[in-house]
Amino acid sequence: MVITISPIPAVNVAAVPQRSPLRYPGGKTWLIPHIRFWLRSTKRPRLLVEPFAGGGIVSLTAVMENLVDESLMVELDKDVAALWKAALNYGPELVARISSFTLTRESVVQLSCKRPADVVEHGFRTLVLNRTRRGGVLAQGASFTRKGENGAGIASRWYPNTLIRRLRAIAECAPRISFCETDGMQILVSLLAKPHDDVALFVDPPYTGKGGKRAGKRLYAHNDIDHARLFSILAESNANFLMTYDRSLEIESLIESHKFHAVQVLMKSGHHARLPELVITRYPCFSKGIAVA
Ligand SMILES: C[S@@+](CC[C@H](N)C(=O)[O-])C[C@H]1O[C@@H](n2cnc3c(N)ncnc32)[C@H](O)[C@@H]1O
Repeated sequence: MVITISPIPAVNVAAVPQRSPLRYPGGKTWLIPHIRFWLRSTKRPRLLVEPFAGGGIVSLTAVMENLVDESLMVELDKDVAALWKAALNYGPELVARISSFTLTRESVVQLSCKRPADVVEHGFRTLVLNRTRRGGVLAQGASFTRKGENGAGIASRWYPNTLIRRLRAIAECAPRISFCETDGMQILVSLLAKPHDDVALFVDPPYTGKGGKRAGKRLYAHNDIDHARLFSILAESNANFLMTYDRSLEIESLIESHKFHAVQVLMKSGHHARLPELVITRYPCFSKGIAVA
């Protein structure tokens, strides 16, 4: 399949505001310029729905940059869900918990072994584990970072003041952000059964590829998505969506059979290899690219 390269490059994550408290594996900060362009290219959506929210950077950016009125974030992972519930409903309590915590290997191990007493404690635990485990991976089997950033050890990505600043900004926007701990596919089905002209969907599902070899399996506790069904659900609606996937023959064939449009974005992975990612829309949105096989 011939897919054009997007005229908008993937940005270095340092070039856009980091608004999420999570360092999320598969996070889409590099896609933010595409998101801005997409949301500005049509009538301003009232609601942005993110059915596979993860670190939520797209919802946070869309609301904070006033590209939409409101957003709905959906996530099935209970630990990630706890973080969003705490951040959106108990911002000051979560901030207080961060302020009073001294991060050492012992305090992190102790926290990871303890059953959280309430949603603030659960959200706080998610945040600490996310920022101390290698690659931010929360799924079972993830290990703690050993050397850390610049050899600074387990605390090398624990920046309390930065996290507090981000959480305060999220709490300020919380009246415009809803969160739902459920299956994103189900939310899509019920949402698209009603009129949805003023809704935009950002769809970033976990992808394991045929045979389950891709990173999705290792990175997320929930990674079993029926991709063909997801494409059909979108095709049967008239929803304004932007979807992202790793490039693969399986996904190319779904794009072709539903007559969707895709551009390819080259991005740097953590190891500086360039991996092709697809940005898929119903109508051409990023059209002036260069054709590649
Ligand atoms: C590729 S990540 C999303 C990353 C996100 N776009 C970001 O920038 O951080 C996919 C997310 O979908 C979640 N997930 C997997 N299956 C789900 C389901 N059925 N419903 C809702 N969320 C699901 C995973 O836990 C993971 O957080």
